[in-house]
Amino acid sequence: MKKLLIANWKMNYGPIKAGSWIRAFRRERLPKDIDIAVAVPFVSLAAARASLGRASIPALAAQNTFWEDEGAYTGEVSPTMLSEFGAAYCLVGHSERRTHLGETDDMVAKKAAALQKAGIAPVICVGETAAQRKKGEAVKAVRAQVQSAIANLKGDGRAPCVVAYEPVWAIGSGRPCSPQDTKEMHELIRGVLTKKFGHLAEEIRIIYGGSVDVRNISEYMTTTGVDGALVGGASLDPRNFGLICRAAVPA
Ligand code: PGA
Repeated sequence: MKKLLIANWKMNYGPIKAGSWIRAFRRERLPKDIDIAVAVPFVSLAAARASLGRASIPALAAQNTFWEDEGAYTGEVSPTMLSEFGAAYCLVGHSERRTHLGETDDMVAKKAAALQKAGIAPVICVGETAAQRKKGEAVKAVRAQVQSAIANLKGDGRAPCVVAYEPVWAIGSGRPCSPQDTKEMHELIRGVLTKKFGHLAEEIRIIYGGSVDVRNISEYMTTTGVDGALVGGASLDPRNFGLICRAAVPA
């Protein structure tokens, strides 16, 4: 399975800076055998697309969506709108949205299904909090999040989603989850996916996110069951993200 690296800018870079990031990243020497995407704010999608020109790397991802195609939902953006920008992926249920915007498992499930219908791969973000891990409830929490998020997805044809395991305590903390703990959680997630999708689950990429940087990326990429990474802070500099992409693939 081809590995997947996604840069997540979060709420950084309006159209002007987005354009220069893409142009700078295009100058990086990139490995051929991995998929690379960048998750940009809505308002920067058009600029990112324009700076890409005919190039298809990096693929574009959105950071959020609504679950209806159109209608009276002031301030929201639909999957069909995102597909007009050629977005290949869209994050759903990032912990920052769950925390600051009250995004629930039910909303995440609706968003994931709407994205699949629009032909955009949902990148379903799940992960336990520090308190849940401390209480020994990490597995229970992540299992429930994954089960709920995939409930409305269809399992025919190609991989219905990507799952990003992002322990909340590891995000932006400089304290990444150990490869061993990551491996165990990815195995659990794969099990949940297999229960619902059977053999198709083998094609679903489960990626890790949380304080990934150029020093630790190769460790994750060589960990069994880790199919890529979601990179926040360390992706803000296009040259640094280029370094991460190169370090992700053994020379
Ligand atoms: P981080 O963020 O790499 O800055 O920890 C990852 C994410 O939130 O996707």
